Amino acid sequence: MSDLMTAAFPPSFLWGAATSAYQIEGAVREDGRTPSIWDTFSHTPGKTAGGDSGDIAVDHYHRFRDDVALMADLGLTAYRFSVSWSRVQPTGRGPAVQVGLDFYRRLVDELLSKGIKPAVTLYHWDLPQELEDAGGWPERDTAHRFAEYAQIVGEALGDRVEHWITLNEPWCSAFLGYASGVHAPGRTDPAASLKAAHHLNLAHGLGASALRSVMPARNEVALSLNSSVVRPLSPGNAEDLAAVRKIDDLANGVFHGPILKGAYPQTLLAATSSLTDWSFVLDGDLRSINQPLDALGLNYYTPTLVSAADAEPRGPRSDGHGASAHSPWPGADDVAFHQTPGERTEMGWTIDPTGLHELIMRYAEEAPGLPLYVTENGAAYDDKPDADGRVHDPERIAYLHGHLCAVRRAMADGADVRGYYLWSLLDNFEWAYGYEKRFGAVYVDYATLARTPKSSAIWYGRAARTGTLPEVGTA
Ligand code: FCB
Repeated sequence: MSDLMTAAFPPSFLWGAATSAYQIEGAVREDGRTPSIWDTFSHTPGKTAGGDSGDIAVDHYHRFRDDVALMADLGLTAYRFSVSWSRVQPTGRGPAVQVGLDFYRRLVDELLSKGIKPAVTLYHWDLPQELEDAGGWPERDTAHRFAEYAQIVGEALGDRVEHWITLNEPWCSAFLGYASGVHAPGRTDPAASLKAAHHLNLAHGLGASALRSVMPARNEVALSLNSSVVRPLSPGNAEDLAAVRKIDDLANGVFHGPILKGAYPQTLLAATSSLTDWSFVLDGDLRSINQPLDALGLNYYTPTLVSAADAEPRGPRSDGHGASAHSPWPGADDVAFHQTPGERTEMGWTIDPTGLHELIMRYAEEAPGLPLYVTENGAAYDDKPDADGRVHDPERIAYLHGHLCAVRRAMADGADVRGYYLWSLLDNFEWAYGYEKRFGAVYVDYATLARTPKSSAIWYGRAARTGTLPEVGTA
């Protein structure tokens, strides 16, 4: 075993788990909450597997105390959750509903009382339906509405929550929501998806300023990107390298360009010029977006393998983002997506921890000095309880072990990684896949909603308690 696999993580390293509001809370009609785009989408026939919705989800709204106790028993030191915008501000504008905020106050207090650090994500894809009806993310005003909402939540929780994330994976909101349509609100308009991306960037910038205007300076403001690790099918082929450039711009540059460097990549503007002239980027927007960040969150699951689109496909094609006749990659019809060779999870995503190391090192180099967190990483498997009711998931343990080793290696290589949040604490509503895909470290029986920690939860808890990675096969 290499030294690194047994090397301790620093004592301050956060060992967390992540969830999001619509995926776990349920209680969608309680205490004044109004529908979000995910309520509408999941209730539209044909949009989610089995017609599943988050109506009940795993009923976390009523069971949060038990869920926090479970995390404490396992030994976790951090918990990343998201706030349901329409629970707090039902029309997406105007004054807050105090009962909605009270739920999150109670959750945070419960976490703190057990020594678990809360990390709040303000937006994990559940736009209030009223704002979608007014135009959604392609409409500029949505960014201003987000800033108002950020200020409300910042005022309510800023005294007790140090870790803040404005947006989760704006790529999915913009391109799965407005281009391929496999996510809410299910639109298939490539030009609108690019506008949505810009307004999400603007929302991040305005939201970050709004948070800072009401919170103590010690709090960290970050965002979580699902930055892709894009690799060429044939590394020596210039056309495949051009395909990498294009997808890297559409997956990564479109967000980290304006956010970290204050500009959209010229190559992105050129590649999308037949769809839009980007005139929705107004004077001053890039300055608002290019706020200094306190940290950056990286969500990683699998790398992306691309080539130039040949007449003859060079292997199975998939971009891993669901089936749609519409591409989530505007302006990239000349790019083909391929399955990275190797073992896969239940999502069909290839397991490749080297991608996580590569991703972390990229940001360590491009944004030196910026603290990094892995804000999501995990795997879906077809877990089932055995005759004794135990759930053994050795594949998930191997996945976590491999990826945590990659994190540790990146730290040894100089990256300032401060924490890791496993996706996900509980089995939950996996968006268009409904309840078919189980990502939890804790098993949920959907008939009774009973929770059973899988062996991966025990293994991960042991890592959290000791700060070192137990050998695989010891849980
Ligand atoms: C990420 C999402 C998260 C979950 C995982 C599997 O893209 O942020 O909600 O769906 O994928």
